Amino acid sequence: MDMMMNTKIEALWKSDIPIESIEAQAVICLVSEAEWITGHFPEVWKEAIASVKERGLFQGSENQLFTIPVMQSDAAITLILVGTGQHPLTPEELRLTAVRAAKSAVKMSADQVIFALPSSLLTYSQSQDIAVVAHALTEGFILGTYRRKTYKRKQQAYTGPDRLIFHQDKVYQDEHEQQWRTGMERGRAFAEGTILARDLTNLPGNMLVPRDLANAALRLAEQHGLEFEVLDEHDIVKKGMGGLWSVGAGSVNPPRMIVLKYQGKTSWEGEIIGLVGKGITFDTGGISLKPRVGMEDMISDMGGAAVVLGALHTLCLMRPEQNVIVVIPSAENMPSGGAFKPGDIITTLSGRTVEILNTDAEGRLVLADGLTYAKELGATRIIDVATLTGAVVSALGDVATGAVSNDDPFMNEFILASKRTGEKVWPLPAYPEFEEMLRSEVADLRNSTGRYGASITAGLFIGTFAEGMPWIHLDIAGTAYVSKERGVHPKGATGAMVRTIAEYIINQ
Ligand code: BES
Ligand code: MN
Ligand code: ZN
Repeated sequence: MDMMMNTKIEALWKSDIPIESIEAQAVICLVSEAEWITGHFPEVWKEAIASVKERGLFQGSENQLFTIPVMQSDAAITLILVGTGQHPLTPEELRLTAVRAAKSAVKMSADQVIFALPSSLLTYSQSQDIAVVAHALTEGFILGTYRRKTYKRKQQAYTGPDRLIFHQDKVYQDEHEQQWRTGMERGRAFAEGTILARDLTNLPGNMLVPRDLANAALRLAEQHGLEFEVLDEHDIVKKGMGGLWSVGAGSVNPPRMIVLKYQGKTSWEGEIIGLVGKGITFDTGGISLKPRVGMEDMISDMGGAAVVLGALHTLCLMRPEQNVIVVIPSAENMPSGGAFKPGDIITTLSGRTVEILNTDAEGRLVLADGLTYAKELGATRIIDVATLTGAVVSALGDVATGAVSNDDPFMNEFILASKRTGEKVWPLPAYPEFEEMLRSEVADLRNSTGRYGASITAGLFIGTFAEGMPWIHLDIAGTAYVSKERGVHPKGATGAMVRTIAEYIINQ
């Protein structure tokens, strides 16, 4: 089963050889306005650059991109000039610059790409930390080359760049080189996790049912030597996971509860971070059927599961001293003779009963059992990630992820991590009035509350099952799968929140 493309891009650093002796089809050049006027460019490009200057085609202004075909050792290559304007760039601006340059290199069908670093590199960056710069550029470049896998009879031969070679003329001191390598490695780890999430999320519903998601998780576990457990439909019934069972009941593809454990400390004592991801491989809405228009986007309803697997992949590459449990309740939400129905009353793993009012509010039901199971397995704080509500798309569009929490310091730290990754997270207020809206006359909870504050009530439904443990809920319904590319996000699956979750855990 070859579902994943992952990234094959290798990032290298070279300073001991002249740039023109490196084989490449594209060379990316960061140029500020000042450097465009006074800077020195390699001898081989002198003529081309002089002519661009003469004709005033490029000024080095912010976000400006200009490509020039040049000859280098008898081969035609493309010089990609990327303007950086007048001010040093933030890490996010560096990342976005690399994204734009990468897209341009992909247009040129470049296999090997050189990133020509200015000798005055640090004047281009607000952060004076070499590793931060290398991280941002590597991550941005790899993420910028991403394209969704296609399934055409005649596949395109070009599959994106294989190699990114950072080159700098002026030889760094050894310590700088080491920092650069550290940054590249981090950037690659963060990009790889994100790409794993994108690849999984982009898979069509017929190619990824709960069993396939479990297999993808198993492969990740094997790759990194992780402890792994999958509960099948029989185990799920036996354990009393009524939320997950009910949502999966209508499908011929039975549900799975998937568990992976990352041990970064010598023992399992102390803090264990639980990452719980919504793994609905397709959401028809069930008996409360969704409208036909746009239903195809519901292949992305396992986006939360993909994100926690992606973040886990990044963590396994970075190896922080943390213990993490990933829990993925996975099901296909289908209408059928066996499906659960409005009016049903179900019993979750925690013992709490739920009155079903809308079978399309299925995410919170599987996540309820996911949180309880994570707690049973020893989690002491929890982040759940889910494409949970249309309401969060109304509130924040495809721009920001909505967050709900029961623990302000936890939330604040997470938001700080998101500022470093450039991913946008917006906290929603968890007032007790919203919790009251979850009461049912006949059961402990109702699964649907109507339109008012729907993203908050949905989040708080899940939070009930944290039972006082510090908890953050991330609603990625707007950010996981988008209709237009923007910034680091390609069209389709984005992998949003992989980097922030990894960043939060690494910096704990
Ligand atoms: N998977 C959907 C939420 C969703 C909507 C994700 C749009 C991505 C884009 C979720 O299961 C759902 O159907 N939510 C309902 C809940 C309602 C019935 C209470 C919604 O938001 O409409
Ligand atoms: Mn739904
Ligand atoms: Zn759903």
